[in-house]
Amino acid sequence: MDNNFTDLAAPGVRALQPYQPGKPVAELEREYGIHDAVKLASNENPYGPSSLAIAAAGQALQDISRYPEGSGYLLTERLAGKHQVSSECITLGNGSNDVLDLVARVFLTPDHEAVYSQYAFAVYPIVVQAAGALPQVAAAHDGSHGPAYGHDLAAMSKLIGSNTRLVFIANPNNPTGTWLNSDELQAFIAGLPGHVMVVVDEAYFEYVDYLQYPDTSGWLERYPNLIVTRTFSKAYGLAGLRVGYSLSHPDVAGLLNRVRQPFNVNQPAQAAALAALDDYAHIEETVRGNHQGRQQLAAGLERLGLSYIESAGNFIAFETARPGMDVYHDLLQEGMIVRPLANYGMPYHLRVTVGLEEENRRFLEALERVLS
Ligand SMILES: Cc1ncc(COP(=O)(O)O)c(C=O)c1O
Repeated sequence: MDNNFTDLAAPGVRALQPYQPGKPVAELEREYGIHDAVKLASNENPYGPSSLAIAAAGQALQDISRYPEGSGYLLTERLAGKHQVSSECITLGNGSNDVLDLVARVFLTPDHEAVYSQYAFAVYPIVVQAAGALPQVAAAHDGSHGPAYGHDLAAMSKLIGSNTRLVFIANPNNPTGTWLNSDELQAFIAGLPGHVMVVVDEAYFEYVDYLQYPDTSGWLERYPNLIVTRTFSKAYGLAGLRVGYSLSHPDVAGLLNRVRQPFNVNQPAQAAALAALDDYAHIEETVRGNHQGRQQLAAGLERLGLSYIESAGNFIAFETARPGMDVYHDLLQEGMIVRPLANYGMPYHLRVTVGLEEENRRFLEALERVLS
């Protein structure tokens, strides 16, 4: 029998391209027979996790013959305290991607539309199309009325209609690093019709040091249609454990909980996240190091005559005269893994994650060699 499984798949799934993760160091070293490769491709924390988190996860390993605490009680209570909301507002996810998927499954059907920006985080199209809904992609700023490549909220507003159920906003956005300030974001959310939910994805929240950058977790009472997502994968350095969460109206959290898989966050991950929240020194060191490293990278890119997009996150997107994919492959030969952005519709851009000082230096040297 000749099965064409693709024809059997749901239409939204048929049109999808799988998410492309950054290449792991071990894979590059195996393929190229090299050692000491550097990965600056997935916006991970180069300082690693808090030692408190490692100890807590290790302790929790003793109990892995048991199912995790399904409600994530301790972590949820701690997060509620941190954000000064009721614990009923919190939904835990296997990474914040999991929560983005839950939101799409709850609010989208093939009769509905979701709005997001050109160059927005790659998981939005995946969860929208997997739900069978129609993506409405707003052109990003071209630089004349706002930061080039950044979300254009006016353009996004124009795409909102009676079938719209969801809007995704990444603040700051990955891969561009662009961000929205408090006033413009608030005006946008306040102007949304009642049938539209808005997700503000704050995966890089801890890194942002601009005064006008909002903490939208404080806006929940004002805007019941707001869902804020956060993650432990970035500044907290726990990407491998997969913990994220959302803050929302309790009724929305109740709906997310209906489709959430039981035990979606494992016990070592819950324990590590809980401990990480108490290690303020680790976050401070991470954020300080990122600030310096981002300046180091920006200065190095300028020295090489390359233009880059000003970033509020732990990464920088920069432009090359040659196709980014070619530069990416040349950098792999140098043992340097970054991210080409062709799949974001930015064929001449690459994104580099801010690493340790030494890693940033090695990246800039390798880049200079492959571009010369
Ligand atoms: C903007 C944005 N949102 C969400 C995520 C998802 O992260 P995680 O699922 O690890 O929490 C990422 C990861 O790269 C991201 O860049």
